[in-house]
Amino acid sequence: MLDSFFVIILGLCCCCRTQSSQFFLGHPRLDGPKEALVKSIAEFQCEVPNHPMDEKVLLQIFKLGDYSRTLGVYTSIEGKVGNIPMKVKMQHEGNLVCKASIQNTSISGINATFSNIHYFKVIEPVKGAQIIPSGLVELFEESTLELRCELSAGNHVSYKWLHNDQLISPSSSHRVSDNQLTISRVTSKDSGSYMCVATNVFNQTVFNARSSEVEITVKDLVSAPDISFTVLKEAPHKYSARVRCQSTQGAPPITFSLYNGSHQITNVTVDERHAELKLPLVLNRHMGDLCCHASNGEPTTYSRRLPLHVVPVGGPVTIESKYDSGENYAIIGLRFYCKADKGSHPRYQWFLNKTLLQDQGSFYYVMDLPPKQSMLALSVGRSSAGTYHCEVSDNFDNTTAISSKRRYIDKEVLNRIPDYVVGIVFGSFAFLIFLVSACCCIGVIFRKRQYGEKSLWSLQTQRHKAAYEDELDLSGYSDNPDLLKVVKMDEFDQAFCGK
Ligand SMILES: *[C@@H]1O[C@H](CO)[C@@H](O)[C@H](O)[C@H]1NC(C)=O
Ligand SMILES: *[C@@H]1O[C@H](CO)[C@@H](O)[C@H](O)[C@H]1NC(C)=O
Ligand SMILES: *[C@@H]1O[C@H](CO)[C@@H](O)[C@H](O)[C@H]1NC(C)=O
Ligand SMILES: *[C@@H]1O[C@H](CO)[C@@H](O)[C@H](O)[C@H]1NC(C)=O
Ligand SMILES: *[C@@H]1O[C@H](CO)[C@@H](O)[C@H](O)[C@H]1NC(C)=O
Ligand SMILES: *[C@@H]1O[C@H](CO)[C@@H](O)[C@H](O)[C@H]1NC(C)=O
Repeated sequence: MLDSFFVIILGLCCCCRTQSSQFFLGHPRLDGPKEALVKSIAEFQCEVPNHPMDEKVLLQIFKLGDYSRTLGVYTSIEGKVGNIPMKVKMQHEGNLVCKASIQNTSISGINATFSNIHYFKVIEPVKGAQIIPSGLVELFEESTLELRCELSAGNHVSYKWLHNDQLISPSSSHRVSDNQLTISRVTSKDSGSYMCVATNVFNQTVFNARSSEVEITVKDLVSAPDISFTVLKEAPHKYSARVRCQSTQGAPPITFSLYNGSHQITNVTVDERHAELKLPLVLNRHMGDLCCHASNGEPTTYSRRLPLHVVPVGGPVTIESKYDSGENYAIIGLRFYCKADKGSHPRYQWFLNKTLLQDQGSFYYVMDLPPKQSMLALSVGRSSAGTYHCEVSDNFDNTTAISSKRRYIDKEVLNRIPDYVVGIVFGSFAFLIFLVSACCCIGVIFRKRQYGEKSLWSLQTQRHKAAYEDELDLSGYSDNPDLLKVVKMDEFDQAFCGK
């Protein structure tokens, strides 16, 4: 009983084993092209290792995981390799597998098997490249430029960007990612024509699509303007200020606005980098602080503040000199400095013997030292001898000239003992004499008081002396011979200095 049961079990097992081994298909092998062009025909091969002799095997190609859509199908008989043609579509790209199963569905118990995974790449040649800017094609420096390269067709694309026909190599400011070019903080150098070139490759064939050129203009922002003004005399007692605002950089048109403190006086838009604006002016009055604002895009730039205060030239005009010595302390050069006490817009003129000295000559040059001085430098020689003076006038009104004192220069005079040395020597000498005379005088008075009367002889001598003094037109204590000498020397000194 037990034995027969065992035999039945064994028999069943044997029966099952023979049946399943007979129909075990094994895993099919899928082979075929690794890539293909879209819309072309690609042929795949699927081969079953254990092909049943008398059954048809159904071979199907699927995308891995998606078994609802058959991409290609073939029914194999007698173990032939299944050649499965496929019209290539974009969606065929990916991991493909081949499924093998017995076609007669009434035979049950035989499982379908799946092949190896075959990666298949579908290539669509690039077509119709076009640049799409994300913003305006005219932009200001410092802003960001973003360009996209759009295609009407193509996959597995690499992009190149050209700027004025030069390849853009990526850098920290020029980023190329996928189909996008980003330039952060553009400068005027980034102006020009841009083109993108899209490329893909199939079987060593390169497909290119070039976009048409897009012109990008980077406009310079306007630089901080400089402000200045000149004074105009329109009529007697009628003046105006011509204010000039000037920027060195910036793409026109530029709007310049003139402010008085925080109050806008006027504005003007020009196609240049400078503008002139006229204002009525009253002399000797502080008329506010002026400021230029300039703008050609978003940020506005500002000039410094310039006080509008015009003071006419006035007061004494002084002239100072400085000597330059050569060897042996001989004076070889001389600098005169001319300065007026008042005046915001002075014009200086230098004269030698009443001829105007302009800019530069054989022995001199003239230099204004703003704000309030002018210098005349001379080399001392025969040609530079003469009388010098300077004149200061308002640069907007030359009828207001004020003259300095005159200075006589010649080489011999300059190289004589300097005046102040002569002065000190003679001054000390005179002082000494004065002291001596004072002593004598005190002595005489003291003696008079002590002896009261004088002898007749002495009186007579006195009289004689007085007569002699009258003749010489000298009064005082002429019994002192040194005093006479001083007076004479003083006369000499006078002639010497009064050049
Ligand atoms: C399918 O298999 C059954 C049983 O083996 C057989 O009777 C039938 O004829 C087969 N059908 C075809 C279409 O081969
Ligand atoms: C690639 O091109 C060569 C010749 O250029 C050709 O023989 C070969 O069949 C091509 N391969 C495919 C996959 O088209
Ligand atoms: C220029 O002046 C006009 C009035 O004169 C004013 O309306 C305008 O806003 C000013 N423009 C600028 C840029 O300040
Ligand atoms: C500027 O404003 C002040 C008062 O705020 C005024 O006195 C002055 O005349 C103004 N200057 C100009 C040039 O308009
Ligand atoms: C200027 O005048 C003086 C005499 O006053 C004369 O000696 C000198 O040569 C003159 N200089 C020139 C450059 O004319
Ligand atoms: C003053 O200036 C006017 C115009 O610039 C000129 O014609 C005239 O000669 C000048 N006068 C003097 C004294 O320099």
